[in-house]
Amino acid sequence: MSSQILHNARQYEETYEKDIRPEDRPAFHLTPRVGWMNDPNGFSFYQGKYHLFYQYYPYASHWDSMHWGHAVSEDLLCWEYLPAAMAPDQDYDKDGVFSGSAITLEDGRQLLVYTGVEKQLQSDGQYKEIQVQCGAIGDGLDYQKLEANPVIKGDTVPEGSSIYDFRDPKVWQKPDGTYRLLVGNRAPDGTGHLLLYKSEDACSWEFQKVFAKNEGRLGSMWECPDFFELDGKGIVLISPQDMLPQGLEYHGGNGTVCLIGSYDADTDTFTEETNQAVDYGLDFYAMQTVLTPDGRRVMIGWMQNWETSKAHSDQDRWFGQMSLPREVSLKNGRLYQQPIRELEQYRGNKVEYKDVLVKGSRAISSEPGVAGENSLGVTLEGVEGRLIDLEVEISGADADTLYDRFTVSLAADNCCHTDICFRPKESVVTLDRTFSGSRYDVVHQRQAKVASTDGTLKMRIIMDRFSLEVFLEDGREVMSAVIYTDMAAEGIRFTADQDVRLQMTKYDLEL
Ligand code: FRU
Repeated sequence: MSSQILHNARQYEETYEKDIRPEDRPAFHLTPRVGWMNDPNGFSFYQGKYHLFYQYYPYASHWDSMHWGHAVSEDLLCWEYLPAAMAPDQDYDKDGVFSGSAITLEDGRQLLVYTGVEKQLQSDGQYKEIQVQCGAIGDGLDYQKLEANPVIKGDTVPEGSSIYDFRDPKVWQKPDGTYRLLVGNRAPDGTGHLLLYKSEDACSWEFQKVFAKNEGRLGSMWECPDFFELDGKGIVLISPQDMLPQGLEYHGGNGTVCLIGSYDADTDTFTEETNQAVDYGLDFYAMQTVLTPDGRRVMIGWMQNWETSKAHSDQDRWFGQMSLPREVSLKNGRLYQQPIRELEQYRGNKVEYKDVLVKGSRAISSEPGVAGENSLGVTLEGVEGRLIDLEVEISGADADTLYDRFTVSLAADNCCHTDICFRPKESVVTLDRTFSGSRYDVVHQRQAKVASTDGTLKMRIIMDRFSLEVFLEDGREVMSAVIYTDMAAEGIRFTADQDVRLQMTKYDLEL
């Protein structure tokens, strides 16, 4: 039975999505049907289609009372909106239907698990958000919240846990048919941990153990956990709040972390061995994964950052977009990411250049974030656009001296450009969108450490109108950022301070 609140949201989105022209959205990155979007939720394959739900407030382009928006796709690139799946319409979730995940039950129905939020008056006279875990069962279109909700309440958490920061359940089924649920939690002392619950029926849950802990490092609350096995390792994905910067690995604020370790399935014991950032760019958070029918582990994130999420006009009809779905794998103990291979079927208009010499000039090689000299540098006939898949490979042309910097500028015209600058001597790549049309004084630049030290670098850049995702060194590092540049700025330029040799293939993405 759908509530009036859900009914209103469904009517609103159907009426007002028409105000948004398709060309004012990205072509293949999912955006909210109308209004605001944050985290991906319930990323799953169900009844022959991928389902992606999302944190959603249809009525404005800012965060407010959370619903779950819903879209389906056959290839993770062309999305079709379905009516909003859930609204904050019960006492236990009236202040928000927060993030969660999805699973197919034995009887073929789909279970969504999520965090319900309710502001309750405390003895000190203050209102505080109580967070509980809830379920809803449906057929891929309509979902019924469980009579038994909330299925996990704060009274189940172990000592040293919080009932206020207790959210974002990730559910999975073990080969023996039993279920596990991982929930983020922040202890009163500010440190975070992940709580593991167990169930026979995915409805009645029993606390099992603390699955992983931040031990005073890697931020405070760990939001949006995911867990899966990959090539014999256990992988925990988390989005921590309040990170302290750590070299070029982690930036301050809300970050993304991948814990890689051993996993003993019999005892559900995860032992962390290493950790790394998931994305080194400006906009990526709250990632989730799905296992595709052909066995690929595909990850998607919210291509945004909380810190900059208010840096847009309230007049915007939509705000927030998902990242490109990425196939993840393990290589030399690191998490690698590649754009999902389905993207290749939309490649058209191939333009290829072999052995182009980018003539070095100290005068014109753009420093990241430095305006001017925009008309300089090498441009190549047929190489431009904002909906593109661009592969670039470079190497220094002079065997004796290593160059200082090489820059690709994209979404460029006389006043705008977004730069990817490589400094081989420091093995650092900088992504800079200072001149991308933003009118806000927010972070516009970020750096990543790469493995290359000899001046060679391979990158694949995917642009979808208002974003770029840069896959460096075959996906060893990824940098993602949204841009605000007027669509007319579609130039691409290459500059270097000394001669650099360039191999390049560009495709237009036609979808
Ligand atoms: C992460 C997050 C989640 C929460 C949701 C609320 O971005 O803060 O922890 O469930 O967003 O919209």
